[in-house]
This record gives sequence, structure tokens and C-alpha cells, in this order.
Amino acid sequence: MVDEKKLHALREEALAEIAAARDERALEACRVKYLGRKGQLTNVLKSIAQLPPELKPIIGRLANQFKKEIEAALRQAKEEIKKRQEETLPGIDLTLPGRPYPLGKLHPITQVMVELCDIFLRMGFSIASGPEVELDYYNFEALNIPQDHPARDMQATFYLSGDKGVLLRTHTSPIQIRTMERERPPLRIIAPGKVYRCDSDVTHTPMFHQIEGLMVDKDVSFADLKGILTLFAQETFGSETRVRFRPSYFPFTEPSVEMDISCVMCGGEGCRVCGQTGWLEILGAGMVHPNVFRAVGYDPEEWVGFAFGLGVERIAMLKYGINDIRLFYENHLRFLEQF
Ligand code: DAH
Repeated sequence: MVDEKKLHALREEALAEIAAARDERALEACRVKYLGRKGQLTNVLKSIAQLPPELKPIIGRLANQFKKEIEAALRQAKEEIKKRQEETLPGIDLTLPGRPYPLGKLHPITQVMVELCDIFLRMGFSIASGPEVELDYYNFEALNIPQDHPARDMQATFYLSGDKGVLLRTHTSPIQIRTMERERPPLRIIAPGKVYRCDSDVTHTPMFHQIEGLMVDKDVSFADLKGILTLFAQETFGSETRVRFRPSYFPFTEPSVEMDISCVMCGGEGCRVCGQTGWLEILGAGMVHPNVFRAVGYDPEEWVGFAFGLGVERIAMLKYGINDIRLFYENHLRFLEQF
């Protein structure tokens, strides 16, 4: 049972603990210990009813007085802790929101690649892929580029094995072969990916990106090639874009063409970007060579097809007026953040 002496001791103890509390958490612990629902002083107040009648008023008054004292001490200690924090962290507003983390986004080359692929996906093409470390057979041989073919010198190849059987693919065209080996026509695929050539200047990096296209069916014609690639150019560079096809040579297509678009800078007037010609070359294409069909076991009498290949960096540079391809790979944030 409580008596006056015990009550005084309780008060002393509570006030001492409050004085020793270093932070708000310690203060809260004191409050709970003495004034909480099961706190020591709360228990005293609850037990008053059971005291002998002569003690009730004395203990009651004392307990209530101590409760007020302890409450006041808690309030004051809280103020002091706040003031001390202000002094040790002057000028720092702890209620300010935190600094936001900048969100990353897709690299401009990836963005352009996704955009270009989307155009073909809407025309019913689907995505195919193949390895970047490739066999000579897929990169050259099956594409009608035999061992001694001069076209091999046009592409400065990174070889990975001494006997020249394994290499880094120099173009995405080997994916044509791998896809046709795996699937039967009709076929309509695009193949985006990294390619490698031993080459480096303002318009060449040792690694760059291409998108390959291939369509094979019974009645595909050169008109389909022209129609699909014209639509592609106008979707990419604007509906007012004009195109022209020039005869060219690739071992894996016959006939072969290069497609030019009207210059994106001058609209065809002639400027520095287009070398005063009014035209910009953007891709190579052609009708699939019968030897390529033979290599994958398609009957060239039964199937026809067209193929094309384009450089993603070149298109991105024309689209955004960038004159140095290396900017894409230096990855300065001030450059990348513009896209
Ligand atoms: N593979 C060629 C290159 O890298 C580009 C190319 C041209 C791909 C004509 C084709 C094509 O599929 O038909 O230069």
C-alpha cells in the first residue's frame, strides 16, 4: 500500500529520470513508465479508492500534485531537447522533403532502335535475333561471300580465332540465314542488334547497331520492297520525305539497291550535310540472291524475297542533327538528357 514516503520517492525517481533523458524517445519512455495507462503513478491514483478513508484525501492530493509536476517536467525537457537540436544543426530544416533521385531512361540509340522496329512491327514483321560472336559460315559463306570474295575486305572483321572460323559479326545479315534455317516460309522478320568492325572516326565506331529485314513469300516483288521501305522512310523522317533507289551491289541480293531520302536538313536544296546533292543514303537492300536460298534449303524456283539492312546510329544522327557518332558512346549526361 502507498504511503507518503513511497510517493515522494516515486516523484524523486521520475524527475531524476526525466532530467537524464537525452532525446525524445527517452522522454517518451519516462512518460509511459510513470504516467502511461499502467504507469507507476497512474497505478497509485487508481488504488486510492481502496485506501482507508483518513488517507484518501492526503495521498490523493499529493499524487495529483506530483502528476502535474511530472507532466510539467516532461514538457520542459521536451522543449530543451528541441532547442539543443536547433543549436547543433543550425539552419537545417528537418521537415523539408528529401532530394529526388533522377530517373534513368533509355539510351538515345535504344530509343531510335525501338522506334524503327515499331514501324516494321506495325507492318506485320516480327523480331528475330542471333549471336554477336558468329561463325564465318553465317557471316560470309552462306550469304554468298566465299573465302576469296573481295567483299570480305570491305568489312574490317574482328576475328576471334586463328583459323578465322569465329568472328564478331560485321552485320546483322547472318540472322537471315539462322532464321531461314530454323523456319519455313512465308517469313517476315526484322533483326536489330550490335555489329562490329575495326573502324573508328567521326562517323564510325568499332561497335554500332543495325536493323536487318527479310521478307520471303511466293509472290514478293521489288514493288513490295519499294513500298515498304518508302513507308518506313516517311514514318521515320516525315510524310513529306522523298526517296530514290540507286543500283548497287551486295553479294547476297540481286538486284541490289541503295535507298536515299531527300536531305533532312535542306529538304533537297543541297547543303553541307548532303554534300550539295540533296540526297542522303540510308540503307542497302535487294532481292534475295538464289544462292542464299540454296544455302538454307529453300527452293529458289518456289520462293522470292527481299532483304534490307540499315545503320541505327546513322539514322539517329540524321534525325537529331548530330555530327559526331562518338557522342553516343561518351555518355555525358548533358548529351544524353536531351533525348
Ligand atoms: N549487310 C549490309 C551491310 O552491313 C547491309 C545490307 C545490304 C543488308 C543489303 C541487306 C541487304 O539485307 O539486302 O553493309
